[in-house]
Amino acid sequence: MRAIIGLIALTCLAYTAAAHDTSGARHWEIASPDPDRVFLTFHGDPATSRAVTWRTDESVEQAYAEIAPASPGSGFSDRAKRHEAKTQPLTLEKDSKANNRTTHYHSVVFDELEPDTLYAYRVGSGGRWSAWIQFRTASDKAEPFRFLYFGDAQNDVHSKWSRVIRMAHRTAPDASFAIHAGDLVNAAHADREWAEWMTAGGHLHAETTGVPVTGNHEYKGKLAMQWRPQFALPVEDSLPEQLHETVYSFAYQGVQVIVLNSIAKIEEQTAYLEQKLGEGDYRWRVVTFHHPVFAPSRGPKQSKTRDHWKPILDKMDVDLVLQGHDHTYARGQTPKLSVDGEPGEALGTMYVTSVSGPKMYGINREGLDAFEEQFGLVTTKTGKNTQFFQVIDVNDGRLEYRAYTATGSLYDAVAIEKDQQGNKKLIEIPADE
Ligand SMILES: [Fe+2]
Repeated sequence: MRAIIGLIALTCLAYTAAAHDTSGARHWEIASPDPDRVFLTFHGDPATSRAVTWRTDESVEQAYAEIAPASPGSGFSDRAKRHEAKTQPLTLEKDSKANNRTTHYHSVVFDELEPDTLYAYRVGSGGRWSAWIQFRTASDKAEPFRFLYFGDAQNDVHSKWSRVIRMAHRTAPDASFAIHAGDLVNAAHADREWAEWMTAGGHLHAETTGVPVTGNHEYKGKLAMQWRPQFALPVEDSLPEQLHETVYSFAYQGVQVIVLNSIAKIEEQTAYLEQKLGEGDYRWRVVTFHHPVFAPSRGPKQSKTRDHWKPILDKMDVDLVLQGHDHTYARGQTPKLSVDGEPGEALGTMYVTSVSGPKMYGINREGLDAFEEQFGLVTTKTGKNTQFFQVIDVNDGRLEYRAYTATGSLYDAVAIEKDQQGNKKLIEIPADE
């Protein structure tokens, strides 16, 4: 009997040791009572709401976010409104190679905010709080603004993607949001990789609203176990549960942005795409997803995004499609199709494929020629072996698109001008190279 009790005690000890084994992990991978991985997302109208998520260890069972209009003096915090967080445990299973550690993710939705107002918020509990972090709500009018777009980060994120996101924010510190067009990490559930992605962005993830898009590397059997706990994203009830918090849309100062999931249940999203594009009176419409309609490296083999979504993008005359997956750079345009599907002279949709991380593929010229022959795609600029980020400015009837390299030089730039009838023309802007 004593031997059995001893064995049980030994097993419990071994389990406890394994449950908290952090050997081999870098200090910033390991959750503590201090909040980390603070990430801001859209959740409702960007003029009046935001959501924030953060991580702690499992000792923090009740956490809060506080928010107040920011002021030049430090007394703004006296006027802060406190929100209790929704807390959920996340046990890092063996796929994460994190030794079954349990962490807690906390989330709060800030609502009833004032449009076009600078707010300061912090997250935490007890004596352990984040810094006060500032962000501005959107205007409720179609005012000019700019946003960032990143292709795949995916590999060596701490080492080599960090310089790209930092250069992007030095180039456009006033960006209103940042689209991450899939493959944020390489191994879906690997917590050490999410630790890299969160650390690489650091406070930028907390103050510039992020728009995460799923890529194939966010799936291994199922969606990365961290995705839903760490990103508080809108749930589209009309879509299957599997797509929740991976397919969503928002409107920012007259621009509609639709995020699709090119990995799961693609056909089910087609009706959603068409319905969303039919809503509202937006001057510009942007759609983002991971797998490119026109793959500049892989070429014209079968593509579900082309088969299922391009007809809707054509029909609804979407202005800009932002994609990843092909680890190279290409920017091209298709002609606007007539009602009977025939290509005309007018500008249709601009498609961009880009990469922000260090993994690189080549350009398939024959493939691009085939796209031109079959779909009228005119590829204006390509690039390879370069880490990029993009800044997109919207000002009334003019959308300016700029692709920068990791070293901050302007690689590709173009403007789309749109008249009141919706007719568009493309205007080249001189670039550095
Ligand atoms: Fe990919």
